[in-house]
Amino acid sequence: MKIAILSRRAQLYSTRRLEEEAKKRGHQVKIIDTLRCYMNITSKNPSIHYKGKILDTFDAVIPRIGASITFYGAALVRQFETMGVFVANDSIAITRAQDKLRSLQLLSRKGVGLPITGFAYSPDDIQDLISMVGGPPLVIKILEGTRGIGVVLAETQQAATSVIEAFLDLQSQIMVQEYVKEAKSADIRCFVVDGKVIAAMERRAKIGDFRSNIHRGGTTHLAKLADEERLTAIHATKIIGLHVAGVDLLRSNRGPLVMEVNSSPGLEGIEKATKKNIAEIIIKFIEKKSRKHHTL
Ligand SMILES: Nc1ncnc2c1ncn2[C@@H]1O[C@H](COP(=O)(O)OP(=O)(O)OP(=O)(O)O)[C@@H](O)[C@H]1O
Ligand SMILES: [Mg+2]
Repeated sequence: MKIAILSRRAQLYSTRRLEEEAKKRGHQVKIIDTLRCYMNITSKNPSIHYKGKILDTFDAVIPRIGASITFYGAALVRQFETMGVFVANDSIAITRAQDKLRSLQLLSRKGVGLPITGFAYSPDDIQDLISMVGGPPLVIKILEGTRGIGVVLAETQQAATSVIEAFLDLQSQIMVQEYVKEAKSADIRCFVVDGKVIAAMERRAKIGDFRSNIHRGGTTHLAKLADEERLTAIHATKIIGLHVAGVDLLRSNRGPLVMEVNSSPGLEGIEKATKKNIAEIIIKFIEKKSRKHHTL
């Protein structure tokens, strides 16, 4: 097969691993810089150009679209879909996943466990907003934040009020969320491919922090999942519509709570923590699905 990996940088661990495993299985692989593609949107013969030339045809595309380029990335994936190419994650699902608020709303409709979350525009009713999510301590998150940046723990009413006021005044979009204390500054990353959890790891925050992000000094450990956790991760992935996803869960007293569903989950932490060949599983999934796709 001819497989394209959409990625900003060929040296990224996830990109390298996917390329390596695809080649091992006899495929031709091209790494394509998402932002260097441009599209010809026409009804007769839609196409994609790349660095001055028409792009070759591919059997399958693996999108690795970072949060900062969602709009363009999703448009490009959609263009591949228009051209009839199999994509590992559909553009619509990528768009849903990358909007954290929209994802939570979709999950809430289907009754998936979530941390109680508030979203507001006006600073006029902050006290009620705070009590609506259960009062302090609470977590305040900038919607477009990643890697733990813009995620703040406000321990008192006063701290919560002033942080929310400040963010709203700056016109930042923020979520105000119940702080799940019993998760003990750890979360669970479930890696889902084709409706199955193929690996799971626990991330623990460094001492003095509550955010378990690896970029904030968090450490990774192999995690053993309860059935309910496994089912929640699979259900959440299905609701968002992804084939390949990283679902982040908090272990709470009332069961697993979904924090977020990622459409381009990183491979480095999870492959190292679980010693599983995740890249190979993704390539095998693509082989299976693209065969079906092309015989439709
Ligand atoms: N409601 C919460 N209760 C307890 N801990 C939380 C809560 N929300 C977030 N955390 C902790 O903070 C970390 C960062 O939060 P979150 O994943 O929501 O933001 P992010 O990592 O910046 O975004 P992204 O995952 O999109 O990169 C989580 O991994 C978790 O350890
Ligand atoms: Mg996170």
